[in-house]
Amino acid sequence: MLVLGIESSCDETGIALYDTEQGLLAHRLHTQMAMHAEYGGVVPELASRDHIRRVLPLTEECLAAAGKRLGDIDAIAYTQGPGLAGALLVGTSVANALAFALDKPAIGVHHLEGHLLSPLLAQPAPAFPFVALLVSGGHSQLMEVDGVGHYTLLGETLDDAAGEAFDKTAKLLGLGYPGGPALSKLADKGDPTRFKLPRPMLHSPDLDFSFSGLKTAVLTLVREQPQLDEQTRADICAAFQEAIVDVLVGKSLKALKQTGFKQLVIAGGVGANRQLREQLDAAAAKRRFQVFYPPLEFCTDNGAMIAFAGAQRLKHAAHGDGSFTVKPRWDLHNLPAA
Ligand code: KG4
Ligand code: ZN
Repeated sequence: MLVLGIESSCDETGIALYDTEQGLLAHRLHTQMAMHAEYGGVVPELASRDHIRRVLPLTEECLAAAGKRLGDIDAIAYTQGPGLAGALLVGTSVANALAFALDKPAIGVHHLEGHLLSPLLAQPAPAFPFVALLVSGGHSQLMEVDGVGHYTLLGETLDDAAGEAFDKTAKLLGLGYPGGPALSKLADKGDPTRFKLPRPMLHSPDLDFSFSGLKTAVLTLVREQPQLDEQTRADICAAFQEAIVDVLVGKSLKALKQTGFKQLVIAGGVGANRQLREQLDAAAAKRRFQVFYPPLEFCTDNGAMIAFAGAQRLKHAAHGDGSFTVKPRWDLHNLPAA
């Protein structure tokens, strides 16, 4: 079965073709980062308009790269939510129009389920059940994953998401958008021991997170500095990164202990963070659990994870009546089982 995946929930147009027998055949991505950079964040209206420009040419590119034609597609998976309503509507309407024209099912995919299952696109892939740490620009959650659609929320952020904390701290330090990669790059040149930042909720008995206090601690630190030279900014970045990574690793270990599982899966944009990966790998070696990451290019938003998640749900998809909605707000733990 050949599944076309369409991702358009935020500032990336991602298209992919996933074959249930042969795996991923082709994928294309257009990021709008440069377009939004001058505004310091995503401008929803610009995002929607750009998705309209990109979605069909990228689909044609994917089909050509895979040597397939529209008629070969068995189902169209699209991000139905959560995300920006206007941006979601672009992928959703294209997917449903194509499905209607081809008389094939359109499958609405939960964006976070796409992230959650994305490590299954790598080899070796984890087997169910596992604990997933989902850390993106909008979400920070620990989930127990017992199968496709069997998700139990173990803990989540009470305020900012991890990626959001990276982005806001980067902005505060005058780094570009998106802040995560920029902050992480500058942190490589910094000394993490010069400044000491708090590890919010690291020792709380639950599996929740809180990152807004960390951002405020950085703000206070910045204000205390007589001058914010390049080395000072790098040292603050290193201290911030170390604090947030300590918390993410600490809570992930606690979730493994609580569930008794031996597999940890990392998903979402912050999963691209090198220090997080190094620290998790070190903990895994020491404590004898396995840690799985999506391929680096599929950590941030992409079409491959949507095509893949859609393929997992394909057997249960019914032909719709041509009507559709988007779900800008949508809880992952209320999804039906596949
Ligand atoms: O999953 P994603 O592409 O989009 C959402 O669904 O939110 O995640 C984007 C987030 C941004 O906040 C970005 O700053 C962060 O992931 N990010 C990183 C890194 N690469 C992306 N954060 C820390 N280190 C990175 N290397
Ligand atoms: Zn995402």
